[in-house]
Amino acid sequence: MKNKIALITGATSGIGKETAIGLAKLGATIVFTTRDNSKAEKTKKEIILKTGNENINILYCDLASFESIKNCCKEFKSKYKKLHVLINNAGVWDFKKRISKDGIENIFATNYLAPFIMTNLLLDLLKKSKPSRIINVTSGMHYGTINFNDIEFKQRFSGAKAYRQSKLGLILFTRLLAKKLKGTGVTVNCVQPGMTKTELGRDASGFSRMIFKLMGKDPKLGAETSIYLASSPDVENITGEYFVRKEIKKSSKNSYDMELANKLWDVTLNYVKIN
Ligand SMILES: NC(=O)c1ccc[n+]([C@@H]2O[C@H](COP(=O)([O-])OP(=O)(O)OC[C@H]3O[C@@H](n4cnc5c(N)ncnc54)[C@H](OP(=O)(O)O)[C@@H]3O)[C@@H](O)[C@H]2O)c1
Repeated sequence: MKNKIALITGATSGIGKETAIGLAKLGATIVFTTRDNSKAEKTKKEIILKTGNENINILYCDLASFESIKNCCKEFKSKYKKLHVLINNAGVWDFKKRISKDGIENIFATNYLAPFIMTNLLLDLLKKSKPSRIINVTSGMHYGTINFNDIEFKQRFSGAKAYRQSKLGLILFTRLLAKKLKGTGVTVNCVQPGMTKTELGRDASGFSRMIFKLMGKDPKLGAETSIYLASSPDVENITGEYFVRKEIKKSSKNSYDMELANKLWDVTLNYVKIN
């Protein structure tokens, strides 16, 4: 990964931090986004200490704000002339309903709309830097469908339903984007890291947190497939797929429905207003 630039969202903890460490060990220049600069400074020091790679850079971005994402992409483009790997890793699983800076339900905004905007705003640079790769971190909990009648669960909020829908949305986005990017030299795949001991679901009950701690794997293992998709020559030409433990796996039935994917894309454009 020498001379490759990787942009990772949400690397201040969990899977994202281990992904950054793994790619830094392989020699990549790492740029990671944060909404908390002091936490990010500590993370940066830790990555440098563990890897000996000094090319670790921080970019401020609150993914729950369209304006912040747009500024972050602008800043990235002003500082870096190439982007070889974009990893849309950051995510939340709120148990209490939260609203983003743009007045949108927070899980939908952070897990789905943010990767959609960031990817689209960086596509020109990814194309210029080909061969390049986009990796979207989804979840095995992506089952169900898209609740078009109430996509933000305004009538009755359920953190689990909102989380599942956001991750299904991300897979549909991945598959449709892969079709749109055919022949450009840019691949896009998604990864299901499996249950991992991280800070996800911070406001869950003590019992749920305990289950996570007992059953979850080490974040280093949770990051393995993201690192593999970002760096391995084996997957250079593979696009539009869903990976679990470094292998292509089947995802849910609805996640292959291109009518659903197109409908969601249109609804998304109304939200993000970037095209
Ligand atoms: N852990 C699991 O079992 C599991 C299973 C399947 C999928 N996943 C997925 O894996 C990805 C990584 O999650 P994780 O488990 O590593 O959780 P985590 O430890 O909570 O890490 C989440 C990262 O996202 C960042 N983030 C959240 N909201 C943000 C915002 N509005 N703006 C900027 N950054 C924001 C966090 O930043 P702060 O440090 O500032 O909070 C943190 O760096 C997520 O997409 C998650 O859905 C996790």
